[in-house]
Amino acid sequence: MPSDKVKMLFEKKTKSIVKVLEDKEDINKYERDEIINAIILGDALKILKKLPPKIFDMVFIDPPYFLQLPKKTLRRWKVKTVVEGVYDDWDKFSSFEEYDNFIQSLLLEIKRVMKDNATVWVIATYHSIFRIGKIMQDLGFWILNDVIWVKTNPMPNWLGVRFTNATETLIWAVKDKSVKNYTFNREYAKEFGMGKVGSNVWVLPICSGRERLKDEKGKKVHSTQKPIELLKRVILTSTKEGDLILDPLAGVGTTGYVAHALNRNFVMIEKNPEYVKWIQKRFEKPLNLRGKL
Ligand SMILES: C[S@@+](CC[C@H](N)C(=O)[O-])C[C@H]1O[C@@H](n2cnc3c(N)ncnc32)[C@H](O)[C@@H]1O
Repeated sequence: MPSDKVKMLFEKKTKSIVKVLEDKEDINKYERDEIINAIILGDALKILKKLPPKIFDMVFIDPPYFLQLPKKTLRRWKVKTVVEGVYDDWDKFSSFEEYDNFIQSLLLEIKRVMKDNATVWVIATYHSIFRIGKIMQDLGFWILNDVIWVKTNPMPNWLGVRFTNATETLIWAVKDKSVKNYTFNREYAKEFGMGKVGSNVWVLPICSGRERLKDEKGKKVHSTQKPIELLKRVILTSTKEGDLILDPLAGVGTTGYVAHALNRNFVMIEKNPEYVKWIQKRFEKPLNLRGKL
């Protein structure tokens, strides 16, 4: 492994098992072996181009939502307290065109790095999932399912002007219509889906309580941290032990964290060094899921 690429970002000794590679302009390519179980700090659109083709068994993408919230402070309709939303810079795009271009460029590179029988999951809310679905179909992806995540504890519609949105949609797809031998563990699908038939409806809470990462002031570290249970379902239904999973927009690293606990390998990419720091910290306390399977 070329050691100049590997950087433990933080001076203090860490018990974290995950390695961090910091992407740089003068790095032209990454070998498969050096990126296994690593986080790459940098821009996914640049980094993906440097990865070898056809190496991933599964890809999970949790892209910016492009929520387009108004700039003014939103207040709850009854008690008038301020609503905490997703106001992060990473969620901002100047137009639908810019957002679509980002999603398209990302998906094009994802297709290149997927094995021929790999699957890809993309999660989003109504703000963007329809655009993403169209882009995927235009790029030739073949949609296997949409899985509806029904949240048992959704954020209410604080303004009281429309229904509370209690769902997110996951699109599950293969590279093209001809792909048949992808991994689908139907026993897990039956266990997780609503009803007795392994349906495409998953009912589970949003990430909260002790699972939610908070800083020393008690503030959420990441506004859209996904629940461990959601990633557990994604990984168990669509991968095998030892598989290599990619999350190119890793946030605080839920995908890799759960993948590791389930004996899968991962590569994660994230552009925000603060989040990468939290991923490392998270890995200091390994997750034990195996007893619960
Ligand atoms: C919706 S969040 C992912 C949350 C994640 N699933 C979790 O559970 O923590 C999207 C993430 O993508 C990152 N991001 C956005 N654009 C990026 C880019 N071009 N390259 C790398 N990361 C990017 C953001 O910093 C943000 O953390």
